[in-house]
Amino acid sequence: MTQAELVVVANRLPVDRVVDADGENGWRRSPGGLVTALEPVMRRADGAWVGWPGQADVEVDPFEFEGTFLVPVSLSADEVEKYYEGMSNDTFWPLYHDVIAEPRYRRVWWDTYVRVNERFAKAAAEVAAEGAMVWVQDYQLQLVPRMLREARPDLTIGYFHHIPFPAYGLYSQLPWRRQVLEGLLGADVIGFQRVADAGNFARAVRRQLRYPTKASGITVPEPDGTTRNALAKAFPISIDASSYIELAQREDIRARAAEIRESLGNPKKILLGVDRLDYTKGIRHRLKAFGELLEDGHINVGDVTLVQVASPSRERVEAYVQLRDEIELTVGRINGDFDTMDHTAIRYLHQAYPREEMVALFLAADVMLVTALRDGMNLVAKEYVASRIDNRGVLVLSEFAGAADELPSAIRINPHDIDGMKDAIMRAIEMPPSEQGRRMRALRRRVMEYDVARWSKSFLDALDDARRHKSDTRNSAEVHA
Ligand code: G6P
Repeated sequence: MTQAELVVVANRLPVDRVVDADGENGWRRSPGGLVTALEPVMRRADGAWVGWPGQADVEVDPFEFEGTFLVPVSLSADEVEKYYEGMSNDTFWPLYHDVIAEPRYRRVWWDTYVRVNERFAKAAAEVAAEGAMVWVQDYQLQLVPRMLREARPDLTIGYFHHIPFPAYGLYSQLPWRRQVLEGLLGADVIGFQRVADAGNFARAVRRQLRYPTKASGITVPEPDGTTRNALAKAFPISIDASSYIELAQREDIRARAAEIRESLGNPKKILLGVDRLDYTKGIRHRLKAFGELLEDGHINVGDVTLVQVASPSRERVEAYVQLRDEIELTVGRINGDFDTMDHTAIRYLHQAYPREEMVALFLAADVMLVTALRDGMNLVAKEYVASRIDNRGVLVLSEFAGAADELPSAIRINPHDIDGMKDAIMRAIEMPPSEQGRRMRALRRRVMEYDVARWSKSFLDALDDARRHKSDTRNSAEVHA
């Protein structure tokens, strides 16, 4: 087996399984930002990526794909149900998003979560070269850092948490709160989206484990009686901004944007929402505000259309099934009350689109609505900004999205305050071009400067520092021996 100097461990592999016209199985690179970001890094480092192929009971041998060695971890249908749908997305997901939906605590889910985390850790331990760096991603794999450290003390381990880390008062509900903190503290560097997330984590560590913390450092006791320092701090993730700029410059995509406007009946203003269909995104609150604006007569369907893309997600988890029903009922009601033969209030699309179509939509949209009730970062906000090469358009951004820390020139909203959101939407619709330009330029500067390459570099630099520090300590221990 290949021995890699850099190993990424994530719930999903960076590829999707596709079946071609002849019924042959193949793989296609998945569209995600993390995948794009790490591609050049993985290529340079001869990296390996450990992950689930995305379907139950798929057994595939490791294989090389576009310069990265892929190590598939197989999950049975029962494990998908308990580890992925259950523990990851019906316990951790709602708990870490401030209990917007009620988390369910099931002991059999936890047992499967532990077992599956062990499988990922074992696969990573097998593919990592002596002294390699391993970078674990996200809440599905919180126990992997500790398991890996125990199996392979020579490795330098990083972990990045893509979603929020909640306040201690909520976190402490978790029956396995100690095990999870200990699992994460197996890493040398633990990255979060926001400073507040890193702070919540450090507080949980102090309260639960009584380990001392100072600035970003946590003093972790080792089994041999010594201590080591783990770094827990914010590394806000970003997007591959230049690829959005390139798409936004393409003639065919610009023509497509014009065609979209045309097909909506050329409204004066197009509002846009783009989300996974998830209860954290505040889609219902957004629809409520929009419906009331129509009802109050502040806007009418001839002038303003809302396009809502809600891509299918986690469709076997009950909370998601319910949410879909509620949203589709609401959209149906609003459209039923306000549509005319020529114009629709809400063009609702329960579909996923390729990046080209998304950029065309961003270019067609005068106002982007990001109304998350809680969101680790929200990359859609950054994608919209990057695509607006004309420095036009308005971003309405929830203060509960991590992106709000970085994008103060957006119109900030509290999505729970429906009247406030209605005012913000009207302000966005009526904003003069000069103000749009001033705000959009500031937003674009930030997103172009702090792109995803910079994010991965800053995390990997911190990991490299940890590795160097480790070998220095080892050398000085040898001198003193
Ligand atoms: C969030 C999580 C990711 C996850 C993605 C899609 O962004 O942070 O870890 O991959 O949602 O969800 P899914 O359950 O389809 O992987």
